[in-house]
Amino acid sequence: MVFNPLKQIRLKPLALGLISSMVLSACIEIPQEMSEDTASANDSENQENSDTAGQTDPISSSDRDLALPNLSFNYANITLPEHFLVNNYPDSMPFQKAVVEYDNTPASNPITDAGATLGRVLFYDTKLSANDTTSCGSCHIQSFAFSDPERLSRGFDGGHTRRRSIGLTNGRFYESGKFFWDERAGSLEEQVLLPIQDAVEMGMDLTTLVGLLSAQDYYPDLFTRAFGDSQVTRERIALALAQFVRSIISTTSPYDLGRAQVESPLDDFPNFSNQENQGKRIFNTPGNDLPSCAGCHQSEAFVGANPATNNGLDRRSTDDFGIAESTGLETDEGKFKTPSLRNVALRPPFMHDGRFRDLDDVIDFYSRDIEDHDNLNPFLRDNRGQPIRYRFNRDEQRALEAFLHTLTDTQMINDEKYSDPFE
Ligand code: HEC
Ligand code: HEC
Repeated sequence: MVFNPLKQIRLKPLALGLISSMVLSACIEIPQEMSEDTASANDSENQENSDTAGQTDPISSSDRDLALPNLSFNYANITLPEHFLVNNYPDSMPFQKAVVEYDNTPASNPITDAGATLGRVLFYDTKLSANDTTSCGSCHIQSFAFSDPERLSRGFDGGHTRRRSIGLTNGRFYESGKFFWDERAGSLEEQVLLPIQDAVEMGMDLTTLVGLLSAQDYYPDLFTRAFGDSQVTRERIALALAQFVRSIISTTSPYDLGRAQVESPLDDFPNFSNQENQGKRIFNTPGNDLPSCAGCHQSEAFVGANPATNNGLDRRSTDDFGIAESTGLETDEGKFKTPSLRNVALRPPFMHDGRFRDLDDVIDFYSRDIEDHDNLNPFLRDNRGQPIRYRFNRDEQRALEAFLHTLTDTQMINDEKYSDPFE
């Protein structure tokens, strides 16, 4: 079994207190031991009905019990804070837009509670791997902001992934709608089926998977609620997984709490220490003609600018050519997707290959090691064409790091609705 530290975190009383809906959290914390034959008592009328709150609806699979709340969690109507809806950056930052303008949800796959609930079950179901050992949640672990503490992740058969697992916070707000470090998946709906079939990650073929899922006792009902009938298809698997992943958004970090109290993201936040406010200033307006970190880590979702870019990690690309591997263009060599910085402090090591152990190393890199790659983003060159050096001093470095920590959303990473529903 893959070690999942989430299991130890999710029952802490602190975590519970943070969950917005106490009713919902209360009804799923009740441990349930149900045998195979009581599983059929799963009654589809109960799910929407709040008068059964206080009980779970456990359904046995061959080895792990699935426990879903009778009352569905809210995935479809998550209230976005005001600062996601309106762009309050000054005109001096013309690249900035409101977070909602980056939304990549297609009209053909809006998030529904039943669809995301099915997606959650699929996300944590080891049946999606060839030998029933590995789920999406094995490499995208909630307590590590849906990334993996290992530099490279281990697949179903013990092999290592080529690149680092990407944290899934705010995937909904990547403007390009493209996924993976090399952006080879054109949409999230396309992306979610690829790890299942990947020879290292899950090693499953989709025809077998459709048959296997159809045979589980808990899926017919979940598919019916999500799609109107119990038929399992690869398209429906993709739609549901994408809905769940898109529902994983962070809106309740210290950054958001402070931001709600001021007019502009550039104002000092009352809940921040001087050091955190200093770090925020350096991030947005580093001065000395240096480029804003926010120029590439854009909006208040802190997502990568579109298109993907090269930030000077290497002078030359030798073994990983980034998006050139999918576009075939030399001018794309060494360009990678920029992950959202939301929850970044929870998911070291950093960059596509996990080369930096901690945020200190990342800031050291921007401070003095940006390399002269042919495709280096022009933003990172000075007026003589040389790679710039931020040259942060010790105080500035600590401040920047403290600021990045304010993007950690403990409520999100403890939220039961994103957690493993199998026990
Ligand atoms: C064995 C580990 C492993 C498993 C299992 C796994 N992933 Fe991943 N995931 C990764 C790695 C590594 C990457 C980065 C790969 C790359 O970019 O080339 C990744 C990337 C992603 C991305 C791209 C994020 C972005 O911002 O571009 C998404 C979304 C994702 N995985 C979702 C899933 C889903 C859904 C499943 C289950 C169906 C899953 N993963 C299973 C390791 C894994
Ligand atoms: C020119 C665009 C650009 C600028 C400016 C920029 N970044 Fe980045 N950043 C990137 C790209 C691209 C990546 C991903 C590179 C990779 O993995 O190959 C990245 C990655 C990161 C990561 C690691 C994220 C992860 O999940 O591994 C951190 C942290 C980060 N940047 C912080 C900063 C800070 C702080 C600044 C300002 C001092 C900054 N960046 C300025 C483009 C930029």
